[in-house]
Amino acid sequence: MSRFDQLINRKNTSSVKWDYSKKLFGVDDVLPMWVADMDFKAPEEVINALHARIDHGIFGYTMPGKSMEEAIIHWVEKRHHWKVDSRWMTYSPGIVTALSLAISAYTDPTDKIVVQSPVYYPFFEMAKKHKRDVLYNKLHLTEQHRFEIDFEDLETKLSKPETTMFILCNPHNPGGRVWSKDELLQIGELCLKHHVLLISDDIHSDLLLFQHEYTPIASLREDIARNTITCIAPSKTFNLAGLQASVLLIPDESLKKKYIEAQQLYGLMTLNTLGTEAMEAAYRHGEAWLDELIVYLEENVTIVKEYLGEHLPQIRVMDPESTYLLWLDVRSFNKTDDELKKLLLHKGQLALEPGSKFGQNGAGFLRMNIACPKETLHQGLIRLVTALKD
Ligand SMILES: Cc1ncc(COP(=O)(O)O)c(C=O)c1O
Repeated sequence: MSRFDQLINRKNTSSVKWDYSKKLFGVDDVLPMWVADMDFKAPEEVINALHARIDHGIFGYTMPGKSMEEAIIHWVEKRHHWKVDSRWMTYSPGIVTALSLAISAYTDPTDKIVVQSPVYYPFFEMAKKHKRDVLYNKLHLTEQHRFEIDFEDLETKLSKPETTMFILCNPHNPGGRVWSKDELLQIGELCLKHHVLLISDDIHSDLLLFQHEYTPIASLREDIARNTITCIAPSKTFNLAGLQASVLLIPDESLKKKYIEAQQLYGLMTLNTLGTEAMEAAYRHGEAWLDELIVYLEENVTIVKEYLGEHLPQIRVMDPESTYLLWLDVRSFNKTDDELKKLLLHKGQLALEPGSKFGQNGAGFLRMNIACPKETLHQGLIRLVTALKD
């Protein structure tokens, strides 16, 4: 039995996933497979580090120092073969906060921001909240059911004089595409050519499945690095989202200075004490746990594909190259998003993310979080088939 098979009751822990179904969906008894956290315990080494820190008993202001920098440098080099420098680093509670600060620091209200839909919705929602215009470079879904970038359209959008920022998701959420070196090089060069700042959200980059290889776009070339802000975090990797600790890597000094000014403006200069402790422990000691997790997630992907292949083959599952968020094509059922939602919640008692939340071209798709014990996954699959069959 794997450690990830353990069923842990998360109810009454103020969990967004498990304690808010009534408030969010109007129903109580649904199996939540939507928001992107895992139903697994964090690595023991992280839990032990947190215990030790709590026992210390003083929780004053905290700022990650040299030891944290070393842990990050070592992690990124070991896992992703990228040598990063401590001078590039700054911290953020979450990546969404970082995106918001970056939009505020580097763009003006008359600017346009490019995103690739369907995409993690705060990318465009945050831009809109800042009253920036959003341009959607829609991802092309191939016959093989894989996302490809429409580079011609991307260049058209990047070349508009008002476009000043492109927010890349690498690996991509939803769908889990890990962009190739070639694709990233084209993106990096287009951004340089059209003077567009690149924000690369690499929060899913540690969760690589089936031997897929991830490249940090800033590792490709120095000029691309100087035009890129890379966001990484242990939050998805080690299931620490509630502890709120993330890292930004900003090699260009003047860009970093601007970001720090935005941090000061919003009073976001320190990190949560426990988040800091957990982040360092995870990057220092979490590797073996992560390797085990990846095997478990790969097994879960296979289970979903086999089960749906047998019981409801009209659902087409995109082969994920990373992370635990499956992108399910349910267009053949000819249901509106509202109809799908009703069927899932009331007939299936299952909460998934509707594809349209990720942008217009996500309609007819569902996103399913499979980072749970196999027993829960089976429950979810039975509920999904119950909801959509006939
Ligand atoms: C691509 C992407 N970025 C950011 C986040 C959230 O990051 P945070 O919780 O650090 O704000 C998620 C969560 O699902 C995500 O998928």
